[in-house]
Order: sequence, then C-alpha cells, then structure tokens
Amino acid sequence: MCGIVGYVGGQRALDVVLEGLRRLEYRGYDSAGVAIVHQGELATEKKAGKLANLTEAVSGHTVADGIAAGSTGIGHTRWATHGAPNDRNAHPHLSEDRAIAVIHNGIIENFAQLRTELEAAGVEFASDTDTECAAHLLARAYAEVPADTTSRLAEAMRRVARRLEGAFTLLAVHRDLPDVVVGARRNSPLVAGRGQGENFLASDVSAFIEHTREAVELGQDQVVEITPDAITVTTFAGAAAEGRDYHVDWDASAAEKGGYDHFMLKEIAEQPQAVADTLRGRLTEHGEILLDEMRLSDEDLRDIDKVFIIACGTAYHAGMIAKYAIEHWTRVPCEVELASEFRYRDPVLDRSTLVIAISQSGETMDTLMALRHAKEQKARVLAICNTNGTTIPRESDAVLYTRAGPEVAVASTKAFLTQLAAVYLVGLYLAQVRGIKYADEVSAVVEQLQRMPEAIAEVLKTMEPVRELARDLAKSGQVLFLGRHVGYPVALEGALKLKELAYMHAEGFAAGELKHGPIALIDQGTPVVAVVPSPHGRESLHGKVVSNIQEVRARGARTIIIAEEGDEDVVPYADHLIRVPRTPTLLAPLVTTVPLQVLACEIATARGHDVDQPRNLAKSVTVE
Ligand code: AGP
Repeated sequence: MCGIVGYVGGQRALDVVLEGLRRLEYRGYDSAGVAIVHQGELATEKKAGKLANLTEAVSGHTVADGIAAGSTGIGHTRWATHGAPNDRNAHPHLSEDRAIAVIHNGIIENFAQLRTELEAAGVEFASDTDTECAAHLLARAYAEVPADTTSRLAEAMRRVARRLEGAFTLLAVHRDLPDVVVGARRNSPLVAGRGQGENFLASDVSAFIEHTREAVELGQDQVVEITPDAITVTTFAGAAAEGRDYHVDWDASAAEKGGYDHFMLKEIAEQPQAVADTLRGRLTEHGEILLDEMRLSDEDLRDIDKVFIIACGTAYHAGMIAKYAIEHWTRVPCEVELASEFRYRDPVLDRSTLVIAISQSGETMDTLMALRHAKEQKARVLAICNTNGTTIPRESDAVLYTRAGPEVAVASTKAFLTQLAAVYLVGLYLAQVRGIKYADEVSAVVEQLQRMPEAIAEVLKTMEPVRELARDLAKSGQVLFLGRHVGYPVALEGALKLKELAYMHAEGFAAGELKHGPIALIDQGTPVVAVVPSPHGRESLHGKVVSNIQEVRARGARTIIIAEEGDEDVVPYADHLIRVPRTPTLLAPLVTTVPLQVLACEIATARGHDVDQPRNLAKSVTVE
C-alpha cells in the first residue's frame, strides 16, 4: 500500500510532507517523491529506494527552485503494482505541460484503455504506471473546465474520477493554485486532518497526527479540496457531501498500526480488503478470469501436464490448499513440496511441468533455490508473490502478485488469505484456458469467490468469544488441530500460528490420522480444535470429521469446533463452537483460518509475547 500526504498552510510543505512520509514508512515502499507548488511553478523530485534517497536529492535543490519554500505540496511512497520500482515510475506523475502533479494509491483497472486513448490523442507517456493516465486526464479535464469556475481543480478531479475504475486514492496540485490540494477516493483510504490555518490529506492519520488530532474520514466516491482555511467535500457528481469528523486519540506509534495494538491485528482486520484487492481487475463481469500479468501464454498452459507447488511455512499451507482446488478444477496432477526438500528429492520435472512458487516476501532462499532447480529442469515457473520487484518473481517466467500490501508482522495472515485467492484464480484460469470448465462453470465459482471478502468480514465481527477462549487457553501446555481435505492445511496453519506466536506446542493432523497414533496424545482436558467441512459439501467429509470429534471427546478432549452456520450435527460434541458463514468447500479456508489467527494472536498476547516480532523468527528467511 502506498503512502500519501498532502499539505496546505503556513509551514514549509516539504518539511510536513517528508515527515508525513516518514511516519508512513511502515506501510512498505520501494520509491518516494514530492511535488511542491511555489510562485507559479511545480518543483518535483522522486527517487527509487528509501526516503533517504529522496531527502538527499531534495537537499540538492536551491530555495529558488521553490521545493524548499513552497507551502503547498504532496508526497508519496510507492508500493509498486504497475511498473517496476524505479525513478521514472515513482510518483508524482506530471501532466505533459508540467502544470499538474498527481500521486496515487491503488489500482486503476481500466488504465490500459485510458492509456490507449491518450496515446491515440498524441500523449507521450514518461512511465509505465497506471497513475500517469490520471495526470494526463486531469490536465485535459482542467483545460475543459471554464477558467472562472470555483474550485476548478476539484471539478476537473470529479470529471476524471468518474472515468476511473478500480481502487484509487488520488491527490493533485496545480502550479497556478497555491494553497489548494485536491483528492479523490474509491475503494482506497483517504483521511483529512483539520488544523488551524492549515489542512492535511493522507492515507492514514499517522502522517499528520503530530500537527492535529482532528480528522475527517472521507467516504466512497468523494472528492475533497483542502485550502488553509477549509476542507470541502463533494460526491463524484459534484453534490455537497460530508466526511466523518473524529478525534484521534491514538499516539503516533499506535496510529501506524491503525489504532490496533499490533500490526498483526491490523493485518488480520485488513484481510477482506486484501482479498478484494487481489481479486480486483482479474475477473470480468462475465465471470471469466483475466490474468493480464501472467506472462505464460495460454498455449504454454495448455501444454502443462503436471503442476508442482513449492513454498515454505504458511505459504506451503496455501500450496496444500491449492492442490485440492487445482486438481478438482483442472484434473491436472498437482504435487506440493516444501521448498527446502524439493531439490533433494530429485523431482520429476520437464518443460510440461508448471512450478508455482508461493512467497509473500519473494526472497525466501529455500523457495528461490527450489525455483532455480526447477528452471534448470526446464520447467515453467509462475511466482505468486506479495512484494513487487523481488528475486523470486524476477527469476520466474510469470508472476501473479497478491495485493495484500506490506505485511509487517512476522506471522503471516493477510498474505496467506491473498495467496489462497491467487491460487484459486490460477486454478480457475488453468481450467478456463484448457477448456476443462465452461465459462458458466468458471463464472459460478467466480461469483462465490467475489463474495468471500464479505464472508471474511462477517467472521471478523464475531471474534470476541474467540478472544475470551484464547485467554483461557493461554495456560494450556498444548493444543491439537484436526482437519480433513482443505481443512487439513488449515489445521496445520492454525498450529503454526500458535507455535510461532505463543511458543506453545501445537500440532495439526489430518483428522483421519488420529486413530493411527496421535490419539494417544489426548488426555483429560486436552484442547482440540476441529475444522469441520461444510455439511453441504461432500457428505462423507462432514460426517467423518464429526466422528473424529466424537473419538477425541470420548477420551476427555476439550473440543473447539469451527463449523458452518446451521451445522447442528456438531453441537452435542462442541465445548466451544465458532461459527463461520456457509462457504463452498474449496473456498472455506478463507473463513475457517481467521478464528485460528485470532486465537493464536490473543494467546500470545495473554502470554505477554511480542506478537509482531516473535522470538527466533524473521519476516523473510533469506538463508537456506
Ligand atoms: C508464517 O507465519 C511465517 N512467517 C513463515 O512460515 C513464512 O510463511 C515462510 O517463511 C515463507 O515466507 P514467504 O512467504 O515470504 O516465502
């Protein structure tokens, strides 16, 4: 997620904007830039890399450049989506006449057609970004707005915003308009800060909290204009509107966590949006899959006769779930292997093998070395990654980026759910291009997938009982997790979360395996979490897991059951019942995982552990 800051007032805009960007650094970024309005000029600077590169570049400007003198400006830290992380793709982006500067957070889904339209009109693009379209469109719209129009730039922004599809927060300044910054938002955050003789715009309050705690949350499809004395909000159509005023009582550090105590809690809460963003722009209105960034041709994909998934840790669990979906939808054999084991087992690979490397960081050495081995065996490699421009996607033949935004907490949560969304897309896409599924069959699953962000949000609203249970379980010596089919990798993921956060012994089992040994672990009061499949799916799956629950309960287990709304069969055997919305069997991990994330996080908190930075662990394991 990019960081965005805008300022108008009596201070040096550069100071306010750079400090604001520093406070947004936690959001993760790979380039940064500023645009300052001063005496009819736009002074801009932008650099790949960290803020220090930008600060150094700016220090080379003279006051006469205006960059150090102006009191109106915008700034941006970019988390690359379209276009590599480099100087030319860094924001702000300028209109051709260099009169307007724009910064952007989000994804403009219809940018390709807009770019074609602008190039046909003779516009020469200076970057590969979707954002630059907005800069050129804004200049054209501004020219069409009568010069004597009040809030001319805001009107131009409304005209442009109405043409954009996808998710965007845009800020813009014009060299002829000192003391004006205009913004627009759709499906992406934007908040205003109300000061005395000065006003602010930002991705979140942490950017301006040291100047004011009076915030104005802006709503969907709204345009905002800030001047030193006013914050004016309208709809995209131009009707007067109101933001939601509120007082920020967080301290600066908490603000970076969006008011949550830990980044992990914030990232768990971001999951509905992260999954929605990962799906965005990849599903047509006819329910077909569009993966424009996959550089493997449909011909290549039709030649595939085997899929091999390689990953580590949580990403490996996503791969296990992918196996069920890919084999069910495409009928192509799919193997999943721990990346650290992959090349030592001398796997059978050739040009007809599609290797899918799943990695949040894109730098996990085990996965990278496995990927290199696959390439040596002439296999085609698709990376599913959350971090643009990293080694694993760079060394792959194709990449499908998840759009979880930076995941700061070491324990992976939103990256996991977006990896699931991504592997579902890959599985459906394979089935689509190989003609295994008709368009209506793909669109039926797509419709279910598009309802998942809402389903995840529903689960998040009911987590208080889970937090209470967690505080009670914090004293336990161990917790066992059971699951069958896609519930089995979910059980493994739940156990991993507990291990890495609460330092508690936890083990996930295939429910059917219990009677082959692990059931000996059950003692009086042993907590056992069971992930129950939908009773509307395969009847045998559901019934067998209910039997497994009976087996452990008969031996004294304390059963914690995750089951679908309306599943009454489990009630007699549940000491604690956690409900999730009714969900198609293969998509269920998107909702059944969430209570396990919350459970582990709360147990770790109850045990007084550092939730975001657990002992012995790194966010990206760049050694073998
Ligand atoms: C999961 O909570 C851990 N952070 C860890 O297992 C992680 O998933 C694994 O190291 C893989 O990392 P990657 O996705 O960045 O490759």
